[in-house]
Amino acid sequence: MHQLTQSRFMSAARRKRLPSAFPVIDGVLHPIQNHVFELNLRNSLVCQERYLKYKAQAKKGGGENATLRHTQRNKKLLVRDRLRRLLDDEDYLELAPFAGLGLPYGDIPSAGCLTGIGKINGLWCVFIANDATVKGGTAYPITVKKQLRAQDVAMQNRLPCVYLVDSGGAFLPLQSEIFPDKNQGGRTFYNEAVMSALKIPQVAIVCGSCTAGGAYIPTMAEETVMVHRIGTIFLGGPPLVKAATGEEVSPEDLGGARLHAEVSGCVDHFAAVEQDAYESARNIISTLNFELPEEDEGEAGGVEEPLHSPDDLLGLAPKSYHHSLDAKLILSRLTDGSKFQEFKARYGTTLLTGFGKIEGQLVGIVASNGELTYEASLKGSHFVQLCDQRDIPLVFLQNTAPEPGPTLSAHKAEAHTNRLKAQGSMMSAVACASVPKITVVIGGCHGADSYAMCGRAFDPNFLFLWPNARVSLVAPGCSQALVPEEEEATQLNRRLEEESCAFFSSGRLWDDGVILPQDTRKVLSSCLKIIKQQDYQISKEKQRTPLLRF
Ligand code: COA
Repeated sequence: MHQLTQSRFMSAARRKRLPSAFPVIDGVLHPIQNHVFELNLRNSLVCQERYLKYKAQAKKGGGENATLRHTQRNKKLLVRDRLRRLLDDEDYLELAPFAGLGLPYGDIPSAGCLTGIGKINGLWCVFIANDATVKGGTAYPITVKKQLRAQDVAMQNRLPCVYLVDSGGAFLPLQSEIFPDKNQGGRTFYNEAVMSALKIPQVAIVCGSCTAGGAYIPTMAEETVMVHRIGTIFLGGPPLVKAATGEEVSPEDLGGARLHAEVSGCVDHFAAVEQDAYESARNIISTLNFELPEEDEGEAGGVEEPLHSPDDLLGLAPKSYHHSLDAKLILSRLTDGSKFQEFKARYGTTLLTGFGKIEGQLVGIVASNGELTYEASLKGSHFVQLCDQRDIPLVFLQNTAPEPGPTLSAHKAEAHTNRLKAQGSMMSAVACASVPKITVVIGGCHGADSYAMCGRAFDPNFLFLWPNARVSLVAPGCSQALVPEEEEATQLNRRLEEESCAFFSSGRLWDDGVILPQDTRKVLSSCLKIIKQQDYQISKEKQRTPLLRF
């Protein structure tokens, strides 16, 4: 059986996609579009400034004093230096870097924990790395949410997962928002067990404290490395022991690397210094049963770049829905050779559907190009099912129209009912399509249209926002129809304006991050490669139980 799987895989690695001669899309900007393009560009440059400001803020972690305490007093590496040593020397995809910024309980840089996907010895792995400069790496509600999302990404895409644990456990003042509910603290450990049973490998590196809940992460991972002198694992630290028994004990004697590697057996590998721990983890990853293809298909065939500069996307990213330009202008800056094999070009034209390649990888593209009408929804539904049948990943470019005004005539009511039915059908098709889905919100994300266009609730493998994106039930400026009282409507609009901002959304982890429009092709390409890696795992059948360490 095993040999069969392997030979099937070997032949798959040598397979080639069918040649294609998709037509080139007309991506030329016309003078009549210049005015809107300029307005969008100005808005995008302001958004980009904001993006860079938040990026710098997140990078500072817990600030200067905490950084000094971490590096000078505690003699630990900073989280980004740790990742540099763990991961291959190439770019990695960070997930939700702005999570934690602008929350009611303050700014929690990177939500106190970096997550993302990077290569280790050529294999894409999810990493979940506490940043102990942020309140000792303690878990805020947003930290828990971010860890759970990273585990979700690992599960949905069958990616090995590496935990870099350096955490004081729960942030106690917010315990009621961390401990009791289903998708809170305990879910991390539940997921670890389920992932292990699903044969999704998990490795932990103890490079700081693992106190209380933090202690279960390394003890439930399949293989754990622990660093001498800086790593500790215990449920209650020395102060608790002293209070309970009067005994004075050092952290090292209570739960240091030597104790856990030699006596308790809680860890499997002892690292004398931090650097050794990352080497050790890299070697563990090399023991995983994956066989990667010699070369990526795209690299082998030579990738065609789009015919137009991706920088133009800054002027195509709509400042508001009314500043949207033809979605084909955007596609022509994303697909290989600006080529697109359109499906149903003359029907339901407010939705673009068709096939294109992103760095050699074939995808079905569903792009908003106006209101999601009855015809557009039927077409979307048809196309999504087509891609599902052919096993082709879907990319949604979402820019939903503001909610329509109230229905005033019988004729309109009938049209709305039909639209409702067709949208329901598209939602079903999207929800049930078993192919990978990636959503990029390039403009609006409002109301029911956003569900049909694979919003967060529809579980895309990844969802990113452009910095100009707006996420809210009702688009800002459109609340008058719903709230007749003028003052109330004005207040509501102000709120919608503030709460629909892409950074507000990303701070709360309603997405996997804000990406710059000009980086979209690269991000999409990485995501597609990441998703595809699961085809190269040799054995994936679910076990009945997770790996039990004892
Ligand atoms: N909840 C809330 N805040 C916490 C915390 C917790 N569980 N653990 C640490 N902090 C805060 C500290 O008050 C301090 O805040 P400040 O910078 O505003 O002064 C900051 O995190 C850093 O802690 P500090 O003790 O100064 O740093 P350190 O590097 O010497 O030690 C820990 C870090 C995590 C080892 C240590 O703080 C610790 O053992 N904390 C208690 C862990 C615990 O008992 N958790 C139980 C959770 S159920």
